Amino acid sequence: MKNIVVLVSGGGTNLQALIDAQKSGIIKNGRITCVISSKEGVYALERAKNNGIASRVIPRKEYSDSVSYSKAILEALNEENADLVVLAGFMTILDECVTKAYEYKIINVHPALIPSFCGEGFYGLRVHEAALEYGVKVSGATIHFVNEKADAGAIILQGTVDVKRDDTPETLQRRIMENVEWRLLPKAVSLLCEDRIDIIDGRAYVRD
Ligand code: GAR
Repeated sequence: MKNIVVLVSGGGTNLQALIDAQKSGIIKNGRITCVISSKEGVYALERAKNNGIASRVIPRKEYSDSVSYSKAILEALNEENADLVVLAGFMTILDECVTKAYEYKIINVHPALIPSFCGEGFYGLRVHEAALEYGVKVSGATIHFVNEKADAGAIILQGTVDVKRDDTPETLQRRIMENVEWRLLPKAVSLLCEDRIDIIDGRAYVRD
């Protein structure tokens, strides 16, 4: 059974999707053992509490830079004996001291089809604003490994939705969450817990 540690910064609907998937048996060979938040008072922490999952708050604002913050996260992950780390709406870029120590063990959900609308500055609603501004006709979400560059690690799963003419960033975000993120994130977590992802030449492939 792998220890899954989920990192959050906000409302935690993706965390909820993971909790629900765990309850319904979709996640095989893993369980969420800890939730770590970069902010105090966020609803994701309530979700952890309501489901009897331990949580920690490591506030980003208490650290002067990304390296010192990442060192604190690394220490917590080591203490929690994390086998798999899931960034589920975690709005802080982690330094390589974490990504190298947990190579191919950290995954992120990004609300666009990487390599579009990703990298530094593209997070949350900003991603959907940029997609609508560009006028793309499909968008979606990507589950990918986390490496030292923002949103640049190997892609594990992607899913798409149609963009509608009258979409707002909020309606597009919601459609992508409901149809892609909440479905594919638990799927990717289970695939990793079952050791069903192969890495070949830096690319990720799902083994049947
Ligand atoms: C999700 O849409 C997630 O893909 C996005 O933030 C939202 C968090 O929602 N993540 C990023 O933009 C990371 N670059 P949640 O807190 O309800 O899961």
